[in-house]
Amino acid sequence: MDYYVGIDLGTSCVKVLLLNSEGETLSTVTKEYPLYFPHSGWSEQNPADWYNQTVNALKELLNGVDGENVCSFSFSGQMHGLVMLDEDDNVIRPAILWNDSRSQVQTDRLNEDKVFLLDNTANIAFAGFTLPKLLWVKENEAENYSKINKIMLPKDYLAYMLSGEFCTDVSDASGTLYFDVEKRNWSENILKRFNINKNWLPKVLESDECAGCLKKEIADMLVLKDVKIIIGAGDNAAAAIGTGTVKDGDCNISLGTSGTVFTVSNKFGLDRNSAIHSFCSAGRNYHQMACMLSAAVCCNWWVEKILGDSYDSVFSKSDILGKNEIMFLPYLMGERSPLNDTDVRGMFFGLSLDTDKNDMSLAVLEGVAFALRHNIDIIRDMINIEKSNICGGGTKNKLWLKIIANVLGIKLQIPANQEGASLGAALLAAKGVMSKKEYAELENKVYKTAETIIPTKELTEKYEEKYRYWRKLYPAIKEIR
Ligand code: XUL
Repeated sequence: MDYYVGIDLGTSCVKVLLLNSEGETLSTVTKEYPLYFPHSGWSEQNPADWYNQTVNALKELLNGVDGENVCSFSFSGQMHGLVMLDEDDNVIRPAILWNDSRSQVQTDRLNEDKVFLLDNTANIAFAGFTLPKLLWVKENEAENYSKINKIMLPKDYLAYMLSGEFCTDVSDASGTLYFDVEKRNWSENILKRFNINKNWLPKVLESDECAGCLKKEIADMLVLKDVKIIIGAGDNAAAAIGTGTVKDGDCNISLGTSGTVFTVSNKFGLDRNSAIHSFCSAGRNYHQMACMLSAAVCCNWWVEKILGDSYDSVFSKSDILGKNEIMFLPYLMGERSPLNDTDVRGMFFGLSLDTDKNDMSLAVLEGVAFALRHNIDIIRDMINIEKSNICGGGTKNKLWLKIIANVLGIKLQIPANQEGASLGAALLAAKGVMSKKEYAELENKVYKTAETIIPTKELTEKYEEKYRYWRKLYPAIKEIR
């Protein structure tokens, strides 16, 4: 039996997953690392923590597994993070992450020429993207900038450490804003305009292509033989592979720290008016993606930090579904899609003396669902969405799934294997070393639906009305800063 390893480099932890050629997930191991917020709006991590915890997780995962049969590793990575190395391959400063908003000035300046950005990258600028961060370093940390020899994305740092090969993939590179999504390569025009040395950038591969082999000393430490390093994908593109969101028109919603709506398209396309991303996908096609910054993290904030309670007790009441008058804006870290507003913050609206904890808890779940709907409404102008897969930690909350299905008015399919991005990474590891026929057989074994959540006419209508009302909130508070 052959084995494939998926490495999902997340924001709070790394998760490694062992898949066999029968499509069974044999085990997973998760290891956490710290996230630093040195100033308000800043978000950083130490790449060394990623690497050390990945190796620790791999040691545990592969303990007792016959190393001869482990064929390949691949990755799913938190996107957009800026990792900079000097000429001796030392990390120059902590990585600046996808949810860091320090580069708003650079972002606004870039967006003064949206036409140039859209023509060359298919996207507009967001503070989370890599180019504004690089410009921030240039303007605020000139000494660090002068030391740059390589710049890379988080998962590509792991691939580099494990294989010694300096590569990235098209899906992750799409989120840098110096990548031409349509041509699936670095944008010469962007590099020229911003004076970015092409030698700093990794070689671009498709997500299922091989970057190289696991370094001998690491293979020996893990008691492995010949392991291929398949470059993998950004986490949302990997989650799409993990949930079977691979064909033209397929949709996946990811309810993680961030929330994303991801739709696959065989043709390149972009929406010139909105804050929806147009990226390359991991299946050699394209996708449109909306990314809201605070999804499941709103529940963590509400349950753990504000109430100090347990999830089961807070989200147990479903009898007020469709009757709750309280509304919540989930913009706890500002918002990316579709608002592109780093300064907006969250809010409860409609409180009265008879409001209780249940009303407010439900409002949190509904507020995130409405924000997803806001994005889906924009994507629907380009692609018809009738059903969607759904994955991520938030799917454990069945009440939330019911709310989302009814707010969106579409069927939600929960995959039998819910590992999402880490499974997607393991599937890419397999795809990179298998024949087309073998991989198609593996997909058939893995892609099964466990449960379908079907909206009801009555609740969908009630939510339609509340959603229309909810949409008035952001324009009303937009100017209050
Ligand atoms: C996508 C994005 C987030 C991160 C989370 O554009 O910024 O989904 O990838 O890890």
